[in-house]
Amino acid sequence: MLHPPELEHLHRPDPNARPIVELKNVSAGYNGVPVLSDVDLKIMPGDFVGLLGPSGSGKTTLLRTILGAVPVQSGELRVHDTPVRARSKPAGYVPQLETIDWNFPVTVEEVVMMGRTMSNAWFPWFRKQERELAYDMMERLGIGHLGKRHIRQLSGGQQQRVFLARALVSSPELLLLDEPTAGVDVKTRDDVMHLLHDLNHAGVTIIESTHEINTVAVHLPRIVCINGTIVADGPPNRVISPHILWEVYGAEMPVIQYHGMPMVAESAHFWIDRNGGEPLATVPDDSHREPVLPHTHPTGDNVPAHHHHDASSD
Ligand SMILES: Nc1ncnc2c1ncn2[C@@H]1O[C@H](COP(=O)(O)OP(=O)(O)O)[C@@H](O)[C@H]1O
Ligand SMILES: [Mg+2]
Repeated sequence: MLHPPELEHLHRPDPNARPIVELKNVSAGYNGVPVLSDVDLKIMPGDFVGLLGPSGSGKTTLLRTILGAVPVQSGELRVHDTPVRARSKPAGYVPQLETIDWNFPVTVEEVVMMGRTMSNAWFPWFRKQERELAYDMMERLGIGHLGKRHIRQLSGGQQQRVFLARALVSSPELLLLDEPTAGVDVKTRDDVMHLLHDLNHAGVTIIESTHEINTVAVHLPRIVCINGTIVADGPPNRVISPHILWEVYGAEMPVIQYHGMPMVAESAHFWIDRNGGEPLATVPDDSHREPVLPHTHPTGDNVPAHHHHDASSD
């Protein structure tokens, strides 16, 4: 499934590519009150974007706006080149686990099958091949043996896979994930990140919200930071800086370079030698760098090879 040749073209720069998601000056929110304002964002086919921001910054709202579940109050939102209200191809969506009602009486199999309801004219009667498709996906995610269990009777990592399977059975071109690695162990987080990379290499465009700055800095080619609006957008080496993290989180976060990758030291103990000696690392001098402003998709430098942002398309 890695790098199927017929999909390789998705990972080359295509000056004629149209954005798969485009927000122009969008305000969106609830009951007429905007949570997001002046959002300009372009997601290109094949992108893999990490969405960072503090709690309440609007990450979930942005994903649900793209999904068509939160009203656009002003501005323009197009998905698959179609205004969102009228679009026919929905995105796959993996909700934040904490928003799920775990008392709802539903089995793993039933949750995964829900992913087919959009394309099934005969809902709630599923064809045999649809059930096979669901089990096929569950097998691939290592939850095939759990089909008849209630979703409450699973570990966090298994629950995460159930909702991933539900999103994937519709073969979406666009996958929106809300904190897919929150509260799971390191091994599961690694598995999920590898699975998402495989999907991305197979041509799926992915937007993932997360609190794990270091995970996205290491794994993802592009990071978008929000706090009610877009604060920064670019590759990790440009976005993960004390200056920008201060703007996004309102907190001092030292950044060190580790094998060429930026890493955030979130604890002072990591930072200063306990014996009171020299600091283990120093904050890189960021003053010579340009702050990464919204909508300046940088090209070339530091962008992993399969990423293909083309500034000329902006
Ligand atoms: N259904 C809703 N109705 C009204 N306000 C909401 C709703 N969902 C979220 N909010 C508000 O929108 C803001 C952003 O929330 P959210 O998008 O969930 O942020 P994040 O996912 O970054 O934590 C918060 O102030 C939150 O209280
Ligand atoms: Mg959220």
